[in-house]
Amino acid sequence: MSIESLAQAAFLVAALLFILALAGLSKHETAKAGNTYGIAGMAVALVATIALAIDRNIESLGLILIGVAMVLGAAIGLWRARVVEMTGMPELIAILHSFVGLAAVLVGWNGYLLVEGGGSPEEIALLTAEGTLGIHSVEVFVGVFIGAVTFTGSIVAYGKLSGRLKSNPLVLPGKNALNIGALVVFAVLTVWFVIDPALWLLIVVTIVALALGWHLVASIGGGDMPVVVSMLNSYSGWAAAAAGFLLGNDLLIVTGALVGSSGAYLSYIMCKAMNRSFISVIAGGFGIEAGPGEDKDYGDHREVSAIETAELLRNAQSVIITPGYGMAVAQAQYGVAELTRKLRENGTTVRFGIHPVAGRLPGHMNVLLAEAKVPYDIVLEMDEINDDFADTDVVLVIGANDTVNPAAETDPGSPIAGMPVLRVWNANDVIVFKRSMASGYAGVQNPLFFNENSAMLFGDAKDRVDDIVRAL
Ligand code: TAP
Repeated sequence: MSIESLAQAAFLVAALLFILALAGLSKHETAKAGNTYGIAGMAVALVATIALAIDRNIESLGLILIGVAMVLGAAIGLWRARVVEMTGMPELIAILHSFVGLAAVLVGWNGYLLVEGGGSPEEIALLTAEGTLGIHSVEVFVGVFIGAVTFTGSIVAYGKLSGRLKSNPLVLPGKNALNIGALVVFAVLTVWFVIDPALWLLIVVTIVALALGWHLVASIGGGDMPVVVSMLNSYSGWAAAAAGFLLGNDLLIVTGALVGSSGAYLSYIMCKAMNRSFISVIAGGFGIEAGPGEDKDYGDHREVSAIETAELLRNAQSVIITPGYGMAVAQAQYGVAELTRKLRENGTTVRFGIHPVAGRLPGHMNVLLAEAKVPYDIVLEMDEINDDFADTDVVLVIGANDTVNPAAETDPGSPIAGMPVLRVWNANDVIVFKRSMASGYAGVQNPLFFNENSAMLFGDAKDRVDDIVRAL
């Protein structure tokens, strides 16, 4: 059997392993196995690709470059994956997507320089006679366009997630017209490029796509960033698939399509969870107007001490804990698990209410609570617990803010309007653990803090939870 057909068979195995990886990653219990399948698939794909390159008589310089790139890439990848904090995961993913986008742009440009821009007149004449030159030109153009949008979009997402750029949506006058205009320019230039594959057209489309990617993501507000990251994940998949067409690599096409469609589907599920319109999010906040400024007077808030909170908890029959990003920052999950154990020993019913976008990545709170050995069966999804708050004595809001903000239901002008939230305010008493009156991720004030049945327990969440455990 030739190396060529062996490699094709290996690509098929790798594609199957990637499908198994996706299936495994969809559940907590099978996530580790899913990762293993993914690693195995990637290893098979790499070995097959290198074998294929050797079989096709790659120059020795090429092989050396592949080796250097692999060692460097693996070293950087291992180092970043080791040191990244759970809370920094989305920004790491965003920057990795930008590399996929950039790679697609480079593959597209390379394709142009080899064929349309650098092929001999005989080669061009042959491709034109076969009718494949036009297809190649479309592949170059589409690959460069999607790649460039993904590249700058992911850089802006990285900037917003890491706090290097402001998370407010950028609202340029006529922003929807700008986005649609860029798409129309792309369509017109694609046709033009097929008729006359001139270099300047490729330069213009690259610039337009870079600007569009930047603008699309800059126009999206902080609260929608999780959806954006998974949408960019999808774009990076389509960019890889486009590169696969150009390189004639079937595995890249299959893998790109898997990433592209699974990313799009995840974005859709997240949009549903946040009651956002899928189309409006991917179109760069299409139809979303900026919320009014924060000059409203919400009245006074009440403060409470850890000792008083312990007293309240000692007398409570039922308690619900709603954790958020602050619990992750403070690493308070171990104290929270200890508190839960103490309360349950005392005969109190303790449950957790998890918002689908609490924290900074899907499943963030579930992972932290599982790490601290909180039993799975008392950790409930928002929809499972939202009607129970009214029958609950005490709710502990530990480092959560946007996900428990009643303005999402009551203020149509709020940037988070329409997002389903945990209705903690229906409980008898609500204790909010945070360090100040500062707003949450979406940058909006939370009227919950000023309710009569709410009290603020200021300080680092871990310290305050430990204080309560001691007092109990
Ligand atoms: P946030 O709205 O982000 O609020 C977290 C709160 O924790 C802050 O108000 C902060 O207040 C407090 N905090 C921070 N450090 C603390 C510490 N050491 N001790 C005590 N409190 C601390 O949290 P959330 O309710 O989890 O909402 C998540 C937000 O992130 C949503 O807007 C969501 O859309 C967005 N987002 C989610 C994801 C995913 S997929 N989950 C990804 C990206 C973005 P102080 O500063 O006053 O302490």
